[in-house]
Amino acid sequence: QSDASLTLTATDRTISKHIYGQFAEHLGRGIYDGFWVDKNLPVAKQDRIRLDIVAALRQIKIPNLRWPGGCFADEYHWRDGIGPRAQRPRMVNTNWGGVTEDNSFGTHEFLELSKLLGCEPYIAGNVGSGTVEEMSKWVEYLNSNSSSTVVQMRKQNGHPEPYKVTYWGVGNESWGCGGNMTPEFYADQFKRYASFAKDYPGTPLKKIASGPNADDYNWTEVCMKNIPTSMMWGLSMHYYTLPTGNWGKKGSATAFTEQEYFNTMVNCLKMEELVSKHSAIMDKYDPKKKVALVVDEWGVWTDPEPGTNPGFLFQQNSLRDALIAATTLNIFNNHSDRVKMAALAQTVNVLQALILTDKEKMLLTPTYHIFDMYKVHQDAKYLDIKLKSPDYEVGGKSIPAVNVSASQDAAGKVHISLVNLNLTKAVTISTVLKDIKWIAVKGQVLTSANITDVNTFQQPNKLQLRAFTNAKKEGDKLVATIPAKSVVTLELN
Ligand code: AHR
Repeated sequence: QSDASLTLTATDRTISKHIYGQFAEHLGRGIYDGFWVDKNLPVAKQDRIRLDIVAALRQIKIPNLRWPGGCFADEYHWRDGIGPRAQRPRMVNTNWGGVTEDNSFGTHEFLELSKLLGCEPYIAGNVGSGTVEEMSKWVEYLNSNSSSTVVQMRKQNGHPEPYKVTYWGVGNESWGCGGNMTPEFYADQFKRYASFAKDYPGTPLKKIASGPNADDYNWTEVCMKNIPTSMMWGLSMHYYTLPTGNWGKKGSATAFTEQEYFNTMVNCLKMEELVSKHSAIMDKYDPKKKVALVVDEWGVWTDPEPGTNPGFLFQQNSLRDALIAATTLNIFNNHSDRVKMAALAQTVNVLQALILTDKEKMLLTPTYHIFDMYKVHQDAKYLDIKLKSPDYEVGGKSIPAVNVSASQDAAGKVHISLVNLNLTKAVTISTVLKDIKWIAVKGQVLTSANITDVNTFQQPNKLQLRAFTNAKKEGDKLVATIPAKSVVTLELN
């Protein structure tokens, strides 16, 4: 007797690997004391880049890294971050704790990090406080092979060849910290900045407009109406899951009741509505879906860990956050006709991080393990799903207990990622695969005794991926029992 049913059908659509992207801002201990450490810290390093972090991120195949912000991007002046480090100007990071930014991590350091990670750099240019000329010259510095003065500077600074950066953000949150603009004003600004951010030989820029804040549908409407689709590769959208839904008191990362957990998941599932409604507006102006919806800031945002600098946004990461990551990635996979890029905020030591560090120690969060489990979907063919899920009810309200996405890789293997949000009840699911042949199933699961469980420096492997054996072939059907509060990915051969 099954509680849920699923039908999977093959399609021609690809789930872009860029949905699995990451974001790293000059914020708190994300770059400084995260990726980029003191030269005396006793860990393996290249220059000052931590290589244990690089190895962990290579393992999950991060496809892109967005930098330098966030709000920081619109006060960042790229010329401050090149040349001899001792001579680089210092500035105040006004958005994040008022700390002094010494600019030791700049353009060359970021691109060296991207190379070590084997991922595409995604640079967010400064529209809020930078000029059109400044952005234009940054692109020339990066991508031109001419003998212009800025290109000579790049060569003197140690990089003779063009960097070939393609993903290019034109401002960040221009409706807020990026300049408090109206969408009409921003659309005009986008066209100015984008016109002078040139394509150099072999490197056509993929320009991404600063898009809406969560459910600001008017922003999307105005940008789509006023910016020619030929000028814009993508339109970004930012949405954070706040446990309480209240920016003043967001809720704890580690101490919450079932009701609070349930409310958090309601807020997480809002991503489905946001992506659907923004996509519907984009469809009106771009029926061929040429412009990508780029969800380049997402994740759970809680109150900071007690005793830490509130401007550093350092938070622990529990099994709940793993369920949030898996649910959100399922939503993106299922909308991969329009969502072609995304970035979780913010990789190391900030918000929903994949990795936490304490001096030389490092741990992988439950969220990291979800990205490890889900990497099989990168660039795989999307499988269309029809799902009937039981409800999960708390306090008189209900949400679907189960959410799912699935794909078929180039070798023909099918991967089905299932999330059971119910804290106490396992769900048995019966699946029909249309036109897909398979004979064997195996899987991986992430769960733990309590939804509040976390990995700590004392117990770094409390939550990790384990083999899942509760799935079998029954005739033509796949039957699996998904434990309470767990994420399972099945592989069918
Ligand atoms: O990720 C933290 C901040 O959230 C970013 O700097 C900003 O873009 C957003 O408001």
